[in-house]
Amino acid sequence: MPDPGPDAELRWVDVPIEIPAEGQVATFEVGDLALLLCNAAGTPYVLHDQCPHVRVSMAGALIRGTLLECPLHGGLMDVRDGSPQGMPIRRPGTCYAVRSEGDALQVAVPA
Ligand code: FES
Repeated sequence: MPDPGPDAELRWVDVPIEIPAEGQVATFEVGDLALLLCNAAGTPYVLHDQCPHVRVSMAGALIRGTLLECPLHGGLMDVRDGSPQGMPIRRPGTCYAVRSEGDALQVAVPA
């Protein structure tokens, strides 16, 4: 999915799964959008669940600090902004804003 860009209309939706253990990820979907919930040292981040290298799911990835390591080839990406941090990932991943709303964690997805 292309980056919606700063002017795209967004809507906040509840994340329907529990935050995984620190350093781990969990997958979920909003409509047909595949997403990856990351726990980076206690802070949740949501990325598009598609590695920028060859577009596979990153289920099973591990996180050290804020670096997510793709389970297929070991490429690295920063969960804070999707920036590539280690080969073979060259292009940025797509990140989605998160917020806490009451007891719920919410993510902003394209409307
Ligand atoms: S598929 Fe993720 S680094 Fe190759």
